[in-house]
Amino acid sequence: MGNWKLNFNVGEASIYLHKLQKKIANYRDIEVVVAPTSLCLQPLSLQLERSKIKLGAQNAFYQDFGAYTGEISFAELRGLVDYCIIGHSERRYIFHEDDKMIAKKVAACIRNKITPVLCIGETESERSFGETADVIKDQLLGGLSEIGVEDVPKVIVAYEPVWAISSTKDAKIATPDEIAEVVEIIRANLKEVYGADISENVPILFGGSVKPTNAGAYLTTPGINGLLIGGASLILEQFTDIIEIAKRVK
Ligand code: PGA
Repeated sequence: MGNWKLNFNVGEASIYLHKLQKKIANYRDIEVVVAPTSLCLQPLSLQLERSKIKLGAQNAFYQDFGAYTGEISFAELRGLVDYCIIGHSERRYIFHEDDKMIAKKVAACIRNKITPVLCIGETESERSFGETADVIKDQLLGGLSEIGVEDVPKVIVAYEPVWAISSTKDAKIATPDEIAEVVEIIRANLKEVYGADISENVPILFGGSVKPTNAGAYLTTPGINGLLIGGASLILEQFTDIIEIAKRVK
């Protein structure tokens, strides 16, 4: 899944996707998703109507309609996108979204038949103070707190350590061992609250400075099912290289 953040206008996004569709014509068993800005979603959903490439949104508000100036809702996104990124660290730290708001967004996503990609991850200082397991637990269970157990299998979790995100100052590269350790924490929490079946089957993506050079190692990290890719998804060659690696790993 490519997270384009605030990059590419409608024209640029459309040209990129034309090229991407040509380059990755044949693939099965893997899902390719791009999450452009909200303004791109309507035109791109028409462009991708018969394509295997899926669309994701980056954010929306949890009320379906009403007096919420400046917002768009999951109800409006319904039918346009298959996925929505929820609780990205940039939403948490720049736009002050807390677990309560994120939980309502996860619920609104499910209500509107959109798969939420719930992002969780510790900051560098939380990690250095030994708080990683607590932060992960709070963000994970907090984010799921507004949906019933029957809807938890409809959620995708993305583990994105904030210190590994490429736009973070002095970003570091997470090692597969560090990731595997946190994935275990995520699955252990899911198991404790929702049972073994759900814990084993909820897909977990990894995100944070994913590049063609490390994608293979991350995709073969125990418990990881896919990648959430920021910077590298903006560069067509890098994104297609990562897709090729995913095909091979699969
Ligand atoms: P990055 O971003 O791949 O540029 O580190 C990932 C993300 O923020 O989702």
